[in-house]
Amino acid sequence: MKSGTFLVLFFLLPVATEAGFWDFFNVFSKDDDLLSFNSSESNMLSDLEKDLRKSLFGQHIAVDTVLKAVSWFMKDPDPPKPLVLSFHGPTGVGKNYISKIIARNIYKVGLKSNHVHIFISDYHFPHKEELQLRQWIHGNVSNFPRSMFIFDEMDRMHPRLIDTLKPFLDNNDNVDGVSFNKAIFIFLSQTGGHIITNVTLDFWRKGNNREELQLQSEEMETQIFEYLFNDENSMYGLWHSSLINQHLIDHYIPFLPLEVKHVHQCVMAEMLHLNMTQDYDLADRVVRDMPVFPEEEKVFAVKGCRCVRQKLVLYLSLD
Ligand SMILES: Nc1ncnc2c1ncn2[C@@H]1O[C@H](COP(=O)(O)OP(=O)(O)OP(=O)(O)O)[C@@H](O)[C@H]1O
Ligand SMILES: *[C@@H]1O[C@H](CO)[C@@H](O)[C@H](O)[C@H]1NC(C)=O
Ligand SMILES: *[C@@H]1O[C@H](CO)[C@@H](O)[C@H](O)[C@H]1NC(C)=O
Ligand SMILES: *[C@@H]1O[C@H](CO)[C@@H](O)[C@H](O)[C@H]1NC(C)=O
Ligand SMILES: *[C@@H]1O[C@H](CO)[C@@H](O)[C@H](O)[C@H]1NC(C)=O
Ligand SMILES: [Mg+2]
Repeated sequence: MKSGTFLVLFFLLPVATEAGFWDFFNVFSKDDDLLSFNSSESNMLSDLEKDLRKSLFGQHIAVDTVLKAVSWFMKDPDPPKPLVLSFHGPTGVGKNYISKIIARNIYKVGLKSNHVHIFISDYHFPHKEELQLRQWIHGNVSNFPRSMFIFDEMDRMHPRLIDTLKPFLDNNDNVDGVSFNKAIFIFLSQTGGHIITNVTLDFWRKGNNREELQLQSEEMETQIFEYLFNDENSMYGLWHSSLINQHLIDHYIPFLPLEVKHVHQCVMAEMLHLNMTQDYDLADRVVRDMPVFPEEEKVFAVKGCRCVRQKLVLYLSLD
């Protein structure tokens, strides 16, 4: 189809909602969407790697783990089970943002793809609609095996809903005639965030280099795990359910609290997004205003890179 025709059709669309637009778009591109992970030269950095290293600041553990997990999974024509990632950490440190980066390196239109589904527990399933959740996942994966499901605020999701997910996450060859082995599930929550913060602060106080902090350092992974296991820590949520006991989650990935210098990088990146020339000193002033902790040492930003843009515009004039 000529692009001109497409444009005309697009403008003829009455009150195209965004969702409506993409449904419409997909009629014309049947294989919507998938980008290739099969790089011809294995010594070349993949697009995902470049994007992660350029866009996500201060999260070396997440970058390394996600890069390996997602790349191997996407290159495998016949994976034995779906990829299930669980992201943990304090507020504003990149859990949603990395999901967006993953999506835009798997699907041409990123998060806007028809094959990316974002569920916010309270909003989509206020009354524990187990049947609906099951049908949605089943329906979408049977149409398109390489579908991606992101569950935000997983810690507020009802245990019964989470248990509904179980058959999809396991290495079942199929569930009612459909294989889920090519799907990606991502769970986001702040659960365990204070443990991660504690370990990172401890590490900093000992004068260590942040990049040397690893999943195994100070038994961070074990500590997170034990915390999740302990029912008393969350009324609702993943951590109640048998997802953990049955080892359906492939990777628990900690997101570290961001240091002031990372927030500075976020401000500089935001300037680019706003098409401004980057101004190091201005970024300094913006960052200086933000709340930090601990009181004495002032190492980490309380809200990570959240609200960086809103803060930045306060320093700009309108002309
Ligand atoms: N590590 C990071 N590197 C670059 N930008 C970041 C990073 N963390 C956060 N940001 C910026 O801050 C915004 C908010 O971050 P994000 O939504 O990913 O936080 P979150 O970890 O999901 O927090 P919450 O638990 O509160 O939902 C992002 O859209 C991104 O612009
Ligand atoms: C990558 O290559 C494998 C076979 O080597 C193929 O099955 C798979 O579909 C390819 N993936 C993409 C996205 O092209
Ligand atoms: C796919 O998921 C969406 C929600 O993201 C839902 O509205 C739609 O009905 C699902 N499709 C099928 C075929 O179940
Ligand atoms: C944080 O670490 C300190 C010592 O390293 C410990 O005493 C404290 O209990 C920890 N807090 C949490 C919430 O893990
Ligand atoms: C920045 O410039 C690009 C290209 O010139 C444009 O597409 C984009 O909308 C601009 N962004 C903002 C925030 O003005
Ligand atoms: Mg978030």
